[in-house]
Amino acid sequence: MHLDAARKLWQPTPGWLNTASYGLPPTPAYDQLHTALTQWRHGSTDWQPWDDQVTRSRAAFATLIGAPTEDITVSSTASQIISQIATALPPDARILIPDIEFTSNVYPWAVAAHVDTAPPDRLADAITPRTTAVAFSLVQSATGQLAPLDDIIQAAHAHDTLVIADASQACGWLPVTTHGLDALACAAYKWLMCPRGAAFGYLSPRLRERMTPTAANWYSGTSMYGMPLTHHPDARAFDLSPAWFSYVGAAPTLDLLNQLDTDDIRRHNLAMANRFRTGLGQPPGDSAIVSLDTTHPDTPQRLQRAGVRMAVRAGRLRASFHLYTTELDVDLALEALT
Ligand SMILES: Cc1ncc(COP(=O)(O)O)c(C=O)c1O
Repeated sequence: MHLDAARKLWQPTPGWLNTASYGLPPTPAYDQLHTALTQWRHGSTDWQPWDDQVTRSRAAFATLIGAPTEDITVSSTASQIISQIATALPPDARILIPDIEFTSNVYPWAVAAHVDTAPPDRLADAITPRTTAVAFSLVQSATGQLAPLDDIIQAAHAHDTLVIADASQACGWLPVTTHGLDALACAAYKWLMCPRGAAFGYLSPRLRERMTPTAANWYSGTSMYGMPLTHHPDARAFDLSPAWFSYVGAAPTLDLLNQLDTDDIRRHNLAMANRFRTGLGQPPGDSAIVSLDTTHPDTPQRLQRAGVRMAVRAGRLRASFHLYTTELDVDLALEALT
Protein backbone atom coordinates (compact mmCIF):
# COMPACT_ATOMS: atom_id res chain seq x y z
CA MET A 1 0.00 0.00 0.00
CA HIS A 2 1.24 3.49 -0.77
CA LEU A 3 2.03 5.59 2.30
CA ASP A 4 -0.10 8.54 1.07
CA ALA A 5 -3.17 6.27 0.88
CA ALA A 6 -2.44 4.70 4.27
CA ARG A 7 -2.07 8.06 6.01
CA LYS A 8 -5.79 8.72 5.43
CA LEU A 9 -6.48 5.98 8.02
CA TRP A 10 -5.26 8.17 10.88
CA GLN A 11 -7.20 11.08 12.36
CA PRO A 12 -4.92 13.02 14.71
CA THR A 13 -5.99 16.40 16.00
CA PRO A 14 -3.34 18.81 14.60
CA GLY A 15 -0.31 19.38 16.84
CA TRP A 16 0.42 15.80 17.98
CA LEU A 17 4.23 15.62 18.08
CA ASN A 18 4.55 13.04 20.82
CA THR A 19 4.67 9.54 19.30
CA ALA A 20 7.79 8.84 21.37
CA SER A 21 5.32 8.84 24.31
CA TYR A 22 2.49 6.99 22.55
CA GLY A 23 1.40 6.42 18.97
CA LEU A 24 -2.10 6.94 17.57
CA PRO A 25 -4.18 4.07 16.16
CA PRO A 26 -5.33 3.73 12.55
CA THR A 27 -9.10 3.56 11.98
CA PRO A 28 -9.27 -0.26 11.48
CA ALA A 29 -7.59 -0.80 14.88
CA TYR A 30 -9.81 1.71 16.63
CA ASP A 31 -12.94 0.19 15.06
CA GLN A 32 -12.01 -3.39 15.90
CA LEU A 33 -11.17 -2.49 19.47
CA HIS A 34 -14.49 -0.68 19.75
CA THR A 35 -16.28 -3.79 18.46
CA ALA A 36 -14.46 -5.96 21.02
CA LEU A 37 -15.41 -3.60 23.85
CA THR A 38 -19.06 -3.84 22.75
CA GLN A 39 -18.79 -7.65 22.72
CA TRP A 40 -17.29 -7.50 26.21
CA ARG A 41 -20.07 -5.22 27.44
CA HIS A 42 -22.80 -7.62 26.28
CA GLY A 43 -20.99 -10.92 26.70
CA SER A 44 -21.78 -11.68 23.08
CA THR A 45 -18.67 -13.74 22.33
CA ASP A 46 -16.22 -16.22 23.75
CA TRP A 47 -12.68 -14.86 24.37
CA GLN A 48 -11.26 -17.03 21.57
CA PRO A 49 -11.67 -14.42 18.78
CA TRP A 50 -9.77 -11.92 20.96
CA ASP A 51 -7.07 -14.49 21.60
CA ASP A 52 -6.80 -15.12 17.85
CA GLN A 53 -5.59 -11.52 17.58
CA VAL A 54 -2.64 -12.41 19.83
CA THR A 55 -1.62 -15.14 17.38
CA ARG A 56 -2.10 -12.75 14.47
CA SER A 57 -0.06 -10.03 16.21
CA ARG A 58 2.82 -12.39 17.02
CA ALA A 59 3.04 -13.47 13.36
CA ALA A 60 2.80 -9.86 12.14
CA PHE A 61 5.58 -8.70 14.47
CA ALA A 62 7.75 -11.63 13.31
CA THR A 63 7.21 -10.52 9.70
CA LEU A 64 8.01 -6.92 10.60
CA ILE A 65 11.46 -7.79 11.97
CA GLY A 66 12.12 -10.77 9.65
CA ALA A 67 12.24 -13.38 12.44
CA PRO A 68 10.62 -16.82 12.75
CA THR A 69 7.29 -16.63 14.60
CA GLU A 70 8.55 -19.34 17.01
CA ASP A 71 11.19 -16.88 18.28
CA ILE A 72 8.66 -14.19 19.25
CA THR A 73 7.25 -13.85 22.76
CA VAL A 74 4.26 -11.65 23.64
CA SER A 75 4.16 -9.69 26.83
CA SER A 76 2.73 -6.47 28.23
CA THR A 77 5.84 -4.35 28.71
CA ALA A 78 9.38 -4.18 27.39
CA SER A 79 10.78 -4.29 30.93
CA GLN A 80 8.97 -7.57 31.65
CA ILE A 81 10.61 -9.14 28.59
CA ILE A 82 14.01 -7.81 29.65
CA SER A 83 13.47 -9.10 33.20
CA GLN A 84 12.95 -12.58 31.82
CA ILE A 85 16.12 -12.29 29.71
CA ALA A 86 18.02 -11.40 32.90
CA THR A 87 17.36 -14.96 34.11
CA ALA A 88 19.84 -16.17 31.47
CA LEU A 89 22.72 -14.43 33.19
CA PRO A 90 25.30 -16.23 35.31
CA PRO A 91 25.64 -15.02 38.97
CA ASP A 92 28.79 -12.98 38.24
CA ALA A 93 27.39 -11.36 35.08
CA ARG A 94 28.41 -7.85 34.00
CA ILE A 95 26.02 -5.89 31.80
CA LEU A 96 27.08 -2.88 29.78
CA ILE A 97 24.47 -0.20 29.05
CA PRO A 98 24.60 3.41 27.79
CA ASP A 99 24.92 6.00 30.56
CA ILE A 100 21.69 7.55 29.30
CA GLU A 101 19.13 4.77 28.93
CA PHE A 102 15.42 4.49 29.69
CA THR A 103 15.08 2.58 32.96
CA SER A 104 12.99 -0.23 31.43
CA ASN A 105 16.33 -1.37 30.01
CA VAL A 106 18.32 -0.55 33.16
CA TYR A 107 16.49 -1.70 36.28
CA PRO A 108 15.81 -5.28 35.12
CA TRP A 109 19.59 -5.67 34.73
CA ALA A 110 20.44 -3.80 37.92
CA VAL A 111 18.49 -6.27 40.09
CA ALA A 112 20.19 -9.26 38.45
CA ALA A 113 23.81 -8.33 37.76
CA HIS A 114 26.58 -5.77 37.94
CA VAL A 115 25.89 -2.86 35.57
CA ASP A 116 28.66 -0.92 33.78
CA THR A 117 27.89 2.21 31.77
CA ALA A 118 29.49 4.09 28.88
CA PRO A 119 28.43 7.03 26.68
CA PRO A 120 26.11 5.76 23.89
CA ASP A 121 28.63 6.47 21.11
CA ARG A 122 31.46 4.72 23.06
CA LEU A 123 29.52 1.56 23.86
CA ALA A 124 31.34 -0.66 21.37
CA ASP A 125 34.77 0.40 22.73
CA ALA A 126 33.65 -0.34 26.30
CA ILE A 127 32.88 -4.03 25.61
CA THR A 128 35.56 -6.26 27.18
CA PRO A 129 36.00 -10.03 27.60
CA ARG A 130 34.29 -9.59 31.01
CA THR A 131 31.10 -8.15 29.44
CA THR A 132 28.36 -10.79 29.60
CA ALA A 133 25.80 -8.74 27.68
CA VAL A 134 25.49 -5.32 26.10
CA ALA A 135 21.97 -3.84 26.27
CA PHE A 136 20.95 -0.59 24.56
CA SER A 137 18.12 1.20 22.79
CA LEU A 138 18.29 1.25 19.00
CA VAL A 139 16.96 4.81 19.27
CA GLN A 140 17.52 6.70 22.53
CA SER A 141 14.17 7.86 23.90
CA ALA A 142 15.17 11.32 25.21
CA THR A 143 17.64 12.46 22.55
CA GLY A 144 16.62 10.41 19.49
CA GLN A 145 20.25 9.32 19.00
CA LEU A 146 20.64 6.17 16.87
CA ALA A 147 22.85 3.44 18.36
CA PRO A 148 26.03 2.56 16.39
CA LEU A 149 24.60 -0.91 15.86
CA ASP A 150 27.18 -2.44 13.50
CA ASP A 151 30.08 -1.40 15.75
CA ILE A 152 28.36 -2.76 18.86
CA ILE A 153 27.57 -6.11 17.20
CA GLN A 154 31.11 -6.46 15.86
CA ALA A 155 32.74 -5.72 19.24
CA ALA A 156 30.25 -7.94 21.11
CA HIS A 157 30.79 -10.91 18.83
CA ALA A 158 34.56 -10.55 19.20
CA HIS A 159 34.15 -11.03 22.98
CA ASP A 160 31.29 -13.57 22.96
CA THR A 161 29.05 -10.92 24.54
CA LEU A 162 25.26 -11.20 24.26
CA VAL A 163 23.60 -8.38 22.29
CA ILE A 164 20.22 -7.18 23.61
CA ALA A 165 18.37 -4.34 21.88
CA ASP A 166 15.39 -2.28 23.06
CA ALA A 167 13.53 -1.43 19.85
CA SER A 168 10.64 0.49 21.49
CA GLN A 169 11.65 3.80 19.88
CA ALA A 170 12.70 2.22 16.58
CA CYS A 171 10.27 -0.44 15.30
CA GLY A 172 7.64 1.24 13.15
CA TRP A 173 9.81 3.90 11.54
CA LEU A 174 13.35 2.48 11.31
CA PRO A 175 13.95 -0.80 9.47
CA VAL A 176 14.79 -3.29 12.26
CA THR A 177 16.04 -6.87 11.91
CA THR A 178 17.38 -9.42 14.35
CA HIS A 179 20.70 -9.69 12.51
CA GLY A 180 23.49 -10.01 15.10
CA LEU A 181 21.07 -9.80 18.06
CA ASP A 182 20.45 -12.37 20.79
CA ALA A 183 17.29 -10.63 21.93
CA LEU A 184 15.12 -7.65 21.20
CA ALA A 185 12.35 -6.13 23.32
CA CYS A 186 9.76 -3.74 21.96
CA ALA A 187 6.92 -1.90 23.66
CA ALA A 188 4.32 -1.60 20.88
CA TYR A 189 2.41 1.47 22.09
CA LYS A 190 4.76 4.02 20.54
CA TRP A 191 5.90 3.84 16.89
CA LEU A 192 3.96 0.59 16.32
CA MET A 193 0.82 2.52 17.34
CA CYS A 194 -0.74 -0.35 19.28
CA PRO A 195 -2.62 -0.03 22.58
CA ARG A 196 -0.52 0.02 25.75
CA GLY A 197 -0.36 -3.56 27.03
CA ALA A 198 1.05 -5.11 23.87
CA ALA A 199 4.80 -5.77 23.79
CA PHE A 200 6.92 -8.18 21.77
CA GLY A 201 10.27 -9.85 22.24
CA TYR A 202 12.61 -11.71 19.95
CA LEU A 203 14.49 -14.44 21.84
CA SER A 204 17.10 -16.34 19.87
CA PRO A 205 17.11 -20.13 20.29
CA ARG A 206 20.64 -20.03 21.77
CA LEU A 207 19.56 -17.50 24.40
CA ARG A 208 16.32 -19.37 25.21
CA GLU A 209 18.35 -22.45 26.11
CA ARG A 210 19.83 -20.41 28.97
CA MET A 211 16.57 -18.77 30.11
CA THR A 212 14.06 -19.75 32.81
CA PRO A 213 10.36 -18.93 32.25
CA THR A 214 10.03 -17.16 35.60
CA ALA A 215 6.57 -15.80 34.76
CA ALA A 216 5.18 -19.24 33.75
CA ASN A 217 1.40 -19.24 33.42
CA TRP A 218 -1.46 -21.08 31.66
CA TYR A 219 -0.63 -19.36 28.38
CA SER A 220 3.12 -20.02 28.37
CA GLY A 221 2.36 -23.61 29.37
CA THR A 222 0.32 -26.20 27.57
CA SER A 223 -2.25 -26.99 30.27
CA MET A 224 -4.84 -25.05 32.27
CA TYR A 225 -4.96 -27.14 35.45
CA GLY A 226 -2.50 -28.78 37.77
CA MET A 227 0.86 -30.45 37.44
CA PRO A 228 3.02 -31.39 35.64
CA LEU A 229 4.67 -28.13 34.64
CA THR A 230 4.76 -27.99 30.85
CA HIS A 231 6.11 -25.14 28.71
CA HIS A 232 5.47 -24.41 25.06
CA PRO A 233 8.55 -25.58 23.15
CA ASP A 234 9.25 -22.19 21.54
CA ALA A 235 9.46 -18.54 22.67
CA ARG A 236 5.82 -18.73 23.82
CA ALA A 237 7.22 -20.35 26.99
CA PHE A 238 8.12 -16.75 27.99
CA ASP A 239 4.71 -15.19 27.21
CA LEU A 240 2.62 -13.38 29.76
CA SER A 241 -1.02 -14.41 29.56
CA PRO A 242 -2.01 -11.68 27.13
CA ALA A 243 -4.07 -8.52 27.67
CA TRP A 244 -6.57 -9.43 24.94
CA PHE A 245 -7.91 -6.01 24.07
CA SER A 246 -4.43 -4.63 23.52
CA TYR A 247 -3.87 -7.29 20.90
CA VAL A 248 -7.27 -6.72 19.28
CA GLY A 249 -5.94 -3.21 18.59
CA ALA A 250 -2.41 -4.39 17.77
CA ALA A 251 -3.13 -6.95 15.05
CA PRO A 252 -4.76 -4.64 12.44
CA THR A 253 -2.10 -1.98 13.01
CA LEU A 254 0.80 -4.41 12.59
CA ASP A 255 -0.80 -5.94 9.49
CA LEU A 256 -1.16 -2.45 8.05
CA LEU A 257 2.48 -1.62 8.82
CA ASN A 258 3.51 -4.80 7.03
CA GLN A 259 1.73 -3.55 3.91
CA LEU A 260 3.85 -0.38 3.97
CA ASP A 261 7.52 0.15 3.15
CA THR A 262 9.34 1.12 6.37
CA ASP A 263 11.81 3.13 4.28
CA ASP A 264 8.89 5.29 3.07
CA ILE A 265 7.86 5.88 6.70
CA ARG A 266 11.42 6.75 7.66
CA ARG A 267 11.72 9.20 4.73
CA HIS A 268 8.44 10.88 5.68
CA ASN A 269 9.32 11.09 9.38
CA LEU A 270 12.78 12.51 8.67
CA ALA A 271 11.33 15.06 6.23
CA MET A 272 9.01 16.29 9.00
CA ALA A 273 11.72 16.20 11.69
CA ASN A 274 14.17 18.03 9.44
CA ARG A 275 11.57 20.67 8.49
CA PHE A 276 11.33 21.28 12.24
CA ARG A 277 15.10 21.33 12.76
CA THR A 278 15.62 23.70 9.81
CA GLY A 279 12.87 26.02 11.12
CA LEU A 280 14.80 26.25 14.37
CA GLY A 281 18.09 26.94 12.59
CA GLN A 282 19.53 23.47 13.31
CA PRO A 283 21.28 21.18 10.82
CA PRO A 284 19.26 18.19 9.52
CA GLY A 285 19.51 14.92 11.47
CA ASP A 286 18.86 11.20 11.09
CA SER A 287 16.23 10.70 13.79
CA ALA A 288 12.43 11.03 13.99
CA ILE A 289 12.94 12.35 17.54
CA VAL A 290 14.24 15.90 18.03
CA SER A 291 15.47 17.17 21.38
CA LEU A 292 15.83 20.91 22.01
CA ASP A 293 16.55 23.46 24.72
CA THR A 294 13.64 24.92 26.65
CA THR A 295 15.40 28.04 27.84
CA HIS A 296 12.34 30.30 27.36
CA PRO A 297 10.22 30.04 30.53
CA ASP A 298 6.86 30.45 28.77
CA THR A 299 7.54 27.80 26.08
CA PRO A 300 5.13 25.23 27.59
CA GLN A 301 2.31 27.82 27.70
CA ARG A 302 2.99 28.92 24.11
CA LEU A 303 2.89 25.33 22.90
CA GLN A 304 -0.28 24.69 24.85
CA ARG A 305 -1.99 27.79 23.43
CA ALA A 306 -1.06 26.65 19.91
CA GLY A 307 -2.46 23.17 20.61
CA VAL A 308 0.96 21.54 20.19
CA ARG A 309 1.57 18.44 22.28
CA MET A 310 5.18 17.38 22.83
CA ALA A 311 7.09 16.05 25.83
CA VAL A 312 9.81 17.24 28.18
CA ARG A 313 12.57 14.66 28.71
CA ALA A 314 15.89 15.06 30.58
CA GLY A 315 15.14 18.79 30.96
CA ARG A 316 14.70 19.34 27.22
CA LEU A 317 11.73 19.54 24.87
CA ARG A 318 11.19 16.39 22.82
CA ALA A 319 9.27 16.44 19.54
CA SER A 320 8.59 13.25 17.60
CA PHE A 321 7.31 12.83 14.06
CA HIS A 322 5.49 9.81 12.62
CA LEU A 323 3.66 8.84 9.45
CA TYR A 324 0.53 10.86 10.36
CA THR A 325 2.53 14.05 11.04
CA THR A 326 1.81 16.86 8.54
CA GLU A 327 3.65 20.03 7.59
CA LEU A 328 0.84 21.87 9.40
CA ASP A 329 1.78 20.10 12.66
CA VAL A 330 5.41 21.12 12.23
CA ASP A 331 4.57 24.71 11.34
CA LEU A 332 2.22 25.06 14.32
CA ALA A 333 5.11 24.06 16.57
CA LEU A 334 7.59 26.36 14.82
CA GLU A 335 5.21 29.29 15.11
CA ALA A 336 4.83 28.69 18.83
CA LEU A 337 8.58 28.28 19.40
CA THR A 338 10.04 31.08 17.25
C1 LIG B 1 13.36 2.99 25.10
C2 LIG B 1 12.12 2.63 25.82
N1 LIG B 1 11.91 1.36 26.20
C3 LIG B 1 10.80 0.98 26.84
C4 LIG B 1 9.81 1.90 27.14
C5 LIG B 1 8.57 1.43 27.85
O1 LIG B 1 8.88 0.40 28.73
P1 LIG B 1 7.79 -0.55 29.36
O2 LIG B 1 7.13 -1.25 28.22
O3 LIG B 1 8.56 -1.45 30.23
O4 LIG B 1 6.83 0.33 30.11
C6 LIG B 1 9.99 3.23 26.81
C7 LIG B 1 8.97 4.25 27.17
O5 LIG B 1 9.18 5.44 27.05
C8 LIG B 1 11.16 3.61 26.12
O6 LIG B 1 11.37 4.86 25.74
